[in-house]
Amino acid sequence: MKKIFAIFAAAIALASCQKTVPATIPAHIKDGKIVLETPKRAPGQESALGLKCDPIDTVRIGFVGVGGRGAFAVQRYTYIDGVKIVAVCDEKQERVDYCNEILAGRGLPAADTYVGSEAYKDLCKREDIDLVYVCTDWLDHVPVAVCAMENGHHAAIEVPGATTLEECWQIVNTSEKTRRHCMMLENCCYDFFEMAALNMAQHGLFGEVYHVEGAYIHFLAEDWSWSETWRVDYNIAHRGDNYPTHGLGPICQALDIHRGDKMNYLVAMDTPSYNGKVAAKKFRDLDDCKDGDHTISLIQTEKKKLIEVQHNVYAYRPYTRMYQLTGTEGFANKYPQEGISVKGINGHEYVSKEVMDSLLVEYLPDFAKEIEDKAKTVGGHGGMDYIMDYRLIYCLRNGLPLDQDVYDAAEWSAVAELSRISLENGSMPVEFPDFTRGDWDKTDGFKYAFK
Ligand SMILES: NC(=O)c1ccc[n+]([C@@H]2O[C@H](COP(=O)([O-])OP(=O)(O)OC[C@H]3O[C@@H](n4cnc5c(N)ncnc54)[C@H](O)[C@@H]3O)[C@@H](O)[C@H]2O)c1
Repeated sequence: MKKIFAIFAAAIALASCQKTVPATIPAHIKDGKIVLETPKRAPGQESALGLKCDPIDTVRIGFVGVGGRGAFAVQRYTYIDGVKIVAVCDEKQERVDYCNEILAGRGLPAADTYVGSEAYKDLCKREDIDLVYVCTDWLDHVPVAVCAMENGHHAAIEVPGATTLEECWQIVNTSEKTRRHCMMLENCCYDFFEMAALNMAQHGLFGEVYHVEGAYIHFLAEDWSWSETWRVDYNIAHRGDNYPTHGLGPICQALDIHRGDKMNYLVAMDTPSYNGKVAAKKFRDLDDCKDGDHTISLIQTEKKKLIEVQHNVYAYRPYTRMYQLTGTEGFANKYPQEGISVKGINGHEYVSKEVMDSLLVEYLPDFAKEIEDKAKTVGGHGGMDYIMDYRLIYCLRNGLPLDQDVYDAAEWSAVAELSRISLENGSMPVEFPDFTRGDWDKTDGFKYAFK
């Protein structure tokens, strides 16, 4: 007990970064599990499940954080109908200037520019903005998103939506209080294979899906000198699955998490730091790296289904998000080789490539078929980024609930700190907070909304 509170007590200082992670929330042990306190809803605050807001004819956007990812988002949004890029904000002047070069290159008017680490506050005060699109480093996602919602704007946050449980509750509470959307931009939910496999699962091709696997295994440690410095510092300073949402998002949609099932508890294990330590020494002259090279988190749901999610940015192995769905009548596998097995077609092996390709075409949702060519031309991880942008704007323009709500953002991001707590306590099970506060079974499965 004492040890757990000790973990919660201190704000964790980053190895060589100015920003700090806020202290997290109180906990106790019950029935062999670590249980985290669920904060009470403030008076007047209501569930944001299925939140619908007034339709917006032209979505006016302010981008905050326009480094690699943010500038690319600005570029993509020049291809989306029904938007206006009103403002861009960054700590660095050259980055906002670059965005205006992008806009000029596309024949669009310049955006107003805001420069400085607090300049987003002025951007958020503007009344002619509908959506604040946040692509800063991880530690600034929540402060900017909360400021946006409190000023009456919808917020879209890059992944991970939040770094701590405290921050997860902050976005949930703010969205519930302000009645503004807060979507985490989990682009992997819009990968063509993942969308088609989800649709197959929803049509029962795999029977009852009971075991799902996802991962972020991406060799980043070899040349961290070029990479965003904040990410290097964050990984060196934090044990646990620091980047869980690419793996988790699509598999949670397949299990209808908080739409009929919920994640109940998590157990995490990790290896020592091997290549992480080498990278910490090489790029930061530090002797230690808190993040183990490989971290695995296992989650059991209310319906006793299993979710497995892995993290490794240090291994000499090809990129994988795994994405495996196992059901009573079939199996879908994205990495390392796409494959589908379905009872009745072929029991022990994958169906032939021809059969798989025709299934992938048949089950790709209609909206994705309609914009597939444009998505692939505009690009962004093979087109999935464009599809994500398209869906966000389509839903805002039509006053529809978003595909990913604030509870998804909180649940998928929470695995970072939950895995850390489990690891720091001998892999003890940690109860998963119910961010819906009891409403996880009020929605009948995951669905895209249409007008
Ligand atoms: N979904 C994906 O596939 C994907 C891919 C890459 C990055 N990302 C995410 O995008 C985000 C940004 O990553 P990146 O690679 O572009 O990093 P980056 O370092 O290139 O860009 C971050 C930018 O944010 C700015 N910034 C930081 N704090 C700010 C503040 N308070 N106000 C204004 N600007 C601020 C920095 O100056 C920088 O220009 C991260 O959350 C990352 O995880 C997602």
